[in-house]
Amino acid sequence: MASREHFGSRAAVIMAMAGSAIGLGNIWRFPFIAGQYGGAAFILVYIFFCLLVSLPILLCESVIGRRTHKNTVGAMKELAPGSGWKFLGLLTVIAPVILLSYYSVVGGWSVEYLYKAVTLQFRPEAASEVPGMFGSFVSSSGRPVLCLFVFLAITAGIVYLGVKKGIERFSKVSMPVLFVLVLVIAVYSMTLAGSNEGVQYLVRPDFSKLTPDALAAALGQSFFSLSLGAGTMLTYSSYVSKDEDLVASGAGTAVSDLLFAVLAGFAVMPAVFASGIAPTAGPGLVFETLPFIFAKMGSAAGFMSAAASVVFFLTILVAALTSSISMMEVGVAYLVEERHVSRHRATLGIFFFSFAAGILCSLSFGPLSGVKIAGNSIFDFLDKLCSNWLLTLGALFFCLFVGWKMDKSAVRDELTNGGSRTFNARVFPVIYFLVRYIAPAAILLVFLSGVIG
Ligand code: PHE
Repeated sequence: MASREHFGSRAAVIMAMAGSAIGLGNIWRFPFIAGQYGGAAFILVYIFFCLLVSLPILLCESVIGRRTHKNTVGAMKELAPGSGWKFLGLLTVIAPVILLSYYSVVGGWSVEYLYKAVTLQFRPEAASEVPGMFGSFVSSSGRPVLCLFVFLAITAGIVYLGVKKGIERFSKVSMPVLFVLVLVIAVYSMTLAGSNEGVQYLVRPDFSKLTPDALAAALGQSFFSLSLGAGTMLTYSSYVSKDEDLVASGAGTAVSDLLFAVLAGFAVMPAVFASGIAPTAGPGLVFETLPFIFAKMGSAAGFMSAAASVVFFLTILVAALTSSISMMEVGVAYLVEERHVSRHRATLGIFFFSFAAGILCSLSFGPLSGVKIAGNSIFDFLDKLCSNWLLTLGALFFCLFVGWKMDKSAVRDELTNGGSRTFNARVFPVIYFLVRYIAPAAILLVFLSGVIG
């Protein structure tokens, strides 16, 4: 396909992939999970899993994508023609669209909170009302849906512009900015009175909390955080040119994601402890406590605290956008290449579908809170369906496909650029061993614990 787009450089590849990886998973999920399961001890295990299990799976998706330069379904059809593996392509087209639907609801919340921060609604004299704002906002029907619309419209706008002009350009500007923003918030957060306990919560290793559950949580978190099993990394890799080093860009992506998660931990936890509100998991915490503590500081620090709120919600919004565009691109690439729909119509189609499903998710915090699927609200059901089932299955099958079905020489060829990358050639046996044995075994562990737990 001569007209297919490519990312322009190594930096562009890493920025786009890291953009997909770094998102809500890093900012609200990682800090609480890390705290809950033993702080520094959990972080050590997390790093270990990230490098030994998740990075090899990322490389599996990269190999398939770059080998074929096709969307998830097209890639499977090319590498395993006429076989049942096509279902893996389809699974990984469906999963990111579902993911996009509920992820964008939280993305919409960040639009609202950025608006609130910019219009100085987190005032010191109203600080005590700030935590309650969240509950009344999400349970209403009009505004969260409007914010969902805005978030999805920005996502669709970037995706519509294409890989180079949209995704590459947006990621290249926003990723470095994100790192600076989160660093600013981390430093500010650690200077707040009472923040020390939050720092302790993250750095004090508590090995007694490292239960089998914690190990499964660490692996599950690292899959979600690295965007694995949803076809996003495969699709992005299909835009990577043949002379790019997949191992180097994969490692760059994993390390950036890791670094950002740890920085986000130091941005969020000290502020949570300084606010005196108990750290419980979930998106609400970030929206309730952070603006509260910034507002409380307001009388003491004035401009600084107002600016901190703006910076914080801008960080969440941009991080969520660089992830949501990667989710939308999977479906768009599929519709354009396999169904011969124009990019314009494909983008609009996915936009409307996820908006409709997103409305249901959004209303499940309010008027539709009584609707339960298997005992969960619509939002929780879709979240569990994706993180416990679809992504894990996707990751497992990508791994099995590359480790057991694909020709070993083709895998080596992709990872070493035809043998020309000598370092990669040296580490290839290790990567291949991890892909064939260690990663599938680890995924089965997570999967079983997700299903049973
Ligand atoms: N990695 C993203 C995050 O941390 C979420 C994501 C999952 C994006 C799967 C794409 C695919 O927020």
